[in-house]
Amino acid sequence: MLDNKYNELVKEIIPKNSKYAIRTYGCQMNEHDSEQVEFFLNNLGMEKVEDYNEANFIIINTCAIRGTAENKALGFLGSLKNLKRQNPNLKIIVSGCLPKVDGTFEDLIKKNRHIDILIGTSNYLSLPELIYRSYYEDKTIVDISDQYDLNSAELNYNRMYKHKSFVNIMYGCNNFCSYCIVPYTRGREYSREITDIVKEIEGLVQDGVKEVTLLGQNVNSYGKSLTNKTDFPSLLKEINKIEGLERIRFMTSHPKDFSDDLIKAYADLDKLSKQLHLPVQSGSNKVLKEMNRKYTREAYLEKINKVKALDMDISLSTDIIVGFPGETEEDFEDTLNLIKAVEYDSIFTFLYSPREGTPAAKREDQVPHEIKMERFNRLMDLTNEIAYKKNLKYKDTVVKVLVDEVSKNNPEYLSGRTDGFKTVNFAGDQDLIGKIVDVKIEKVGTFSLDGKLV
Ligand code: SAH
Ligand code: SF4
Ligand code: F3S
Repeated sequence: MLDNKYNELVKEIIPKNSKYAIRTYGCQMNEHDSEQVEFFLNNLGMEKVEDYNEANFIIINTCAIRGTAENKALGFLGSLKNLKRQNPNLKIIVSGCLPKVDGTFEDLIKKNRHIDILIGTSNYLSLPELIYRSYYEDKTIVDISDQYDLNSAELNYNRMYKHKSFVNIMYGCNNFCSYCIVPYTRGREYSREITDIVKEIEGLVQDGVKEVTLLGQNVNSYGKSLTNKTDFPSLLKEINKIEGLERIRFMTSHPKDFSDDLIKAYADLDKLSKQLHLPVQSGSNKVLKEMNRKYTREAYLEKINKVKALDMDISLSTDIIVGFPGETEEDFEDTLNLIKAVEYDSIFTFLYSPREGTPAAKREDQVPHEIKMERFNRLMDLTNEIAYKKNLKYKDTVVKVLVDEVSKNNPEYLSGRTDGFKTVNFAGDQDLIGKIVDVKIEKVGTFSLDGKLV
């Protein structure tokens, strides 16, 4: 991978001391892709800067999951027109999910002639070649092909944190939930080999990583695409053996494939963090069916009850879409009731956003915006009430915190996460960053806990 012949050629043509700025929208997968892009650009001798006004390469890694995400990226792209006019040598690279939405890339370049390179979600290895071509071809260079040769143990990226890292275990999605654009932008499911994943994590641990978050749109179907079929619990078992690794998290698990074996893994594997993000989307069987989620509220609740029966204080989170086409007040109340039954530690709530090309977007019974907002607010009130109540049980207890950084809200404080993914703030010295420490919780809030080092 590193002997990409274009690397040397690019180094010769780009300006000396080139700088790049990168803006990322969307999910952890996109964030992790950006970490790879950073690695490739650093490898070309460029330096990363935060202020895009100082950069001669600007990368916008886009997301298409909802209209709001799309508009943010497009708004930023539009705002660069002037900069490009003032500095024609500026290179603007647009990557990620937006160019991959069927039939949109022509329109994207027609409306944004200042884009130099348009790239997709799985062909970042071509970046040096595309940069090279952009110096010789007087047009937008477009390559949104699917490559997937990122399936390599030598996968390289710049980590945001020294002590924790994302790790791709699979790409793509086969589920085609009727509202979702991801299967169109990220292609079909494709798993990496266990040996490659384990090798990568071993390397990370040697480099100081204590916690990994395994990434896949549906980690429960991990292994199905491999010749030697395997499954997600088997992968977890192998990762759990890695010495020096402390915590294993994963994102995201689809309820339809959430198995008893995975529930058992929580009991058997000491490194598996006591946290489960299991997106339910809706509590109404009618809506779930129309979303093509392939489970009922009863089946979902049964799985959650099995997790609770482990009695391991596993914190629970979910994603909810409000205002899916045809969602009635009764359907919405089913969702509220499900939330009350589960008692989630946190919920990510989204207003349904029609995505062109998906079946749900074609429906005529779209829910008016005011109703969506009203439901959204009711749901938020309930979420916050439950989250606060659940946090109360930590008052006066001692929790183990992996210290991430100086707190964003108060520079005197450090901030980190418990094994169950609760944010904890406390006063402490910066050299504790990256270490696991004991903190006694003194104050409890809806979104975080405050405490004192013990
Ligand atoms: N693969 C994950 C989800 C990835 S997308 C899973 O299936 O759980 C993250 C979340 O975005 C989804 O869980 C869903 O709640 C939300 N989402 C996806 N498409 C959406 C749309 N068209 N409108 C609103 N929210 C959407
Ligand atoms: Fe989208 Fe459904 Fe795939 Fe998740 S499982 S990425 S919601 S299609
Ligand atoms: Fe967005 Fe693509 Fe992730 S659409 S949520 S960046 S998979």
